[in-house]
Amino acid sequence: MSDLEAEKALAAKRAVDEIQDGMLVGLGTGSTANYVLKYLGKRVAAGLRITAVPTSRMTEALARELAVPLVAFGGLSSVDLTIDGADEIDQNLQAIKGGGGALLREKVIAAASARVIAVVDSSKVVRRLGRFPLPVEVFPFAAEFVGARLADLGVPVSLRLQNDDPLLTDHGNHILDVAFGVITDPQQTALAIAAIPGVAAHSLFLSEIDTIIVGRDGAVDVRHADRS
Ligand code: A5P
Repeated sequence: MSDLEAEKALAAKRAVDEIQDGMLVGLGTGSTANYVLKYLGKRVAAGLRITAVPTSRMTEALARELAVPLVAFGGLSSVDLTIDGADEIDQNLQAIKGGGGALLREKVIAAASARVIAVVDSSKVVRRLGRFPLPVEVFPFAAEFVGARLADLGVPVSLRLQNDDPLLTDHGNHILDVAFGVITDPQQTALAIAAIPGVAAHSLFLSEIDTIIVGRDGAVDVRHADRS
């Protein structure tokens, strides 16, 4: 296992320690979230009683393999604790997610969660967001229009492809990746993107994350958001 993989695994294991009997748990998507599933599966096999809601079909499939009890989010409006990865996260626990294409459901489930823990390896921690292209999920019929409005912000925009066709998300949408380079004012950027008709979700997570667990040098750093 590479150093970064080991860091992901360490962060994931520490986060799973926070899960308690009776909780409704949001399960993130991506390679770090997969470690969360692995450790959660072990705890469930050992007798932990929880129910979980997946943020993607991929996560749902892995959770089923690991016999983690699932419920669909459709009939719910709140979740106790969600643990998910991130593509970039800064000192204020503001993050870019969505590299795995699951941003819409990740955003809704994070917003519904009493607590969100982000689990990352040390390479994800940045001083300023934006080097990772910001994913924006759009309704397909509006993709061209939204792309043009995003390009008006003066940044390169590309339609995410899969096998030469536009990628289809779990919700049948497309994704535009917006290469800001540096996002100087995340709040303003989030507002500007959310205001474009046709956007289903953008992947700036500015207030959803309560705790970050970073794997680093064989240990974990745990930090909580200061929202006082
Ligand atoms: C999925 O859509 C994403 O938000 C992931 O949480 C994010 O891309 C981090 O993924 P990795 O843990 O695979 O880096």
